[in-house]
Amino acid sequence: MKYERVIELAKRRGFLWSSSEIYGATAGFWDFGPLGAILKRRVENLWRELYIIGEGFFEIESPTVSVEDAFAASGHLDCFVDLIVECKKCGEMFKADHLVQDVGSESTRAGVAKLIKTHDIRCPECGGELGDVRTFNLMFRTTIGPSSERIGYLRPETAQGIFVDFPRLLRFYRDRLPFGVVQIGKAYRNEISPRQGVIRLREFTLAEAEIFVDPRDKSHPRFDEIADVVLRLYPKKEQLRGKNEIEINVKDAVKKGIIPSQFMGYHLALVQLFLTGVGIRPETLRFRQHKKEERAHYAADCWDAETLLDLGWVELVGIADRTDYDLKAHAKKSGVDMGVFVLYDKPKVIERLRIKPKMDVLGPKFKEEAAKVADVLMRLRPRQLNELGKETIKVGGKTIRVDPKWVECERISEEVHGERVVPHVIEPSYGIDRIVYALLEHSLAEEMVEGEKRLVLRLPPKVAPIQVGVFPLLARDGLVEVAKRVASLLSKDGILMEYDDSGTIGRRYRRHDEIGAPFAITVDHQTLEDNTVTIRERDSMKQIRVSIDGVSDIIRGLLSGKIQFEMLGR
Ligand code: GLY
Repeated sequence: MKYERVIELAKRRGFLWSSSEIYGATAGFWDFGPLGAILKRRVENLWRELYIIGEGFFEIESPTVSVEDAFAASGHLDCFVDLIVECKKCGEMFKADHLVQDVGSESTRAGVAKLIKTHDIRCPECGGELGDVRTFNLMFRTTIGPSSERIGYLRPETAQGIFVDFPRLLRFYRDRLPFGVVQIGKAYRNEISPRQGVIRLREFTLAEAEIFVDPRDKSHPRFDEIADVVLRLYPKKEQLRGKNEIEINVKDAVKKGIIPSQFMGYHLALVQLFLTGVGIRPETLRFRQHKKEERAHYAADCWDAETLLDLGWVELVGIADRTDYDLKAHAKKSGVDMGVFVLYDKPKVIERLRIKPKMDVLGPKFKEEAAKVADVLMRLRPRQLNELGKETIKVGGKTIRVDPKWVECERISEEVHGERVVPHVIEPSYGIDRIVYALLEHSLAEEMVEGEKRLVLRLPPKVAPIQVGVFPLLARDGLVEVAKRVASLLSKDGILMEYDDSGTIGRRYRRHDEIGAPFAITVDHQTLEDNTVTIRERDSMKQIRVSIDGVSDIIRGLLSGKIQFEMLGR
């Protein structure tokens, strides 16, 4: 299995390993080692470049613990649950709907329990009898403060931290739609029994963008820039009919209604741009639309960017239209308005009824309260005179029904400059850990070179943790001193290099090939004569000679992609 080969390399060379190994490790928790942490940070920073600099979405950082009210409102308390069942004999826990998937598609507790009974489904591990089907909330629960009265939860997504800040963020963006806010951080899901190694984590890093849009207009101002990008889509219709994916450009997919809006289309294209840019192989990428029963409780539409790995198709990014679900839910629970006043391009003239209280009727009827009643009546806005008969007002602590005879109505024209809307949210949500793992799997290659096996990690130079190796050809003849000078020159220029003078030059190249260092600089005897060094490219293993004076600029150019290796030395 390639998965095992990747993990062997990742553990041996310091990319990834199970957390707390000395205590036996717990499924779902992994550490990024020295090289893995740099690789991950480089991926995150490229993500920031695309969303913060490219799209103008500012980043915030909110706590990983939130109060119970936030998740009661968001629906996670009630809906973020799995059905579980325990083996009475060996005590192993299972996702109940997974156990019954071969005999029926049921998602209710009673339905699953019935299928288990009817089909006499037993423990897949030991054949023992299964217990009752229960619901299990996937959030990690904690308490806040020493009295332990206040319940908190570790966030299952970073998104809620953005939604609860909406009124402040709206002011930051000067009350205009659309705007986007991003957050990168840890999220937590207490998975029932994660069996897919580093692919299913209980603590993981999400990079999420929440883009607040006008619900009446989901066109995208920069749609033309991506309209011709071709995506491999797997719409729900094709899945239900057992058909294959389709390849189509974004413009046509939106025109045909396969992708429901320009905004969604734009963000699917952006996801593809990001993933292929960091090194996910385009031919292994598809966008699969969720079927109704798969969708999260908040989503009206959702597409997963999936890549084909050794373990099968794996979701790397989910792109959802969350509509106004979250903002309305928080408005209801907190009592805080989550609306935006949207200006019309041109003011609209509308006709409406204005209510004029008849004081000659109200005076005798309400005496000293008459003025107050008139004031309340003037503020009523019924669309028809006869609707007034259904209105009630409060007078002197009593609720009374409005009599249309108390008022006159006149029709007036009024200029209206805009209306209040609750924004919809488009959300690309990236699983950074999975992307890092997928990069390792896609990059790892084994090849025979001069009768010897070469393991090489073909990471794109912009994400490679060690950017260049610096080697003296031999650890004598004054080469070490020059090589150390070159190394220090590179460090001062902000390039992460690794100096290595132990073992044969061939072994040093191999060591650097398998951690994905894209370039290696070698100082040899010619260096002492003409101040030049060789630069070796990892993938082609070709070498060119350049002057030490310009080597730093060339390496920087090669790392950023501004200089192509093939163009050098011509
Ligand atoms: N925010 C996306 C998710 O929870 O999967």
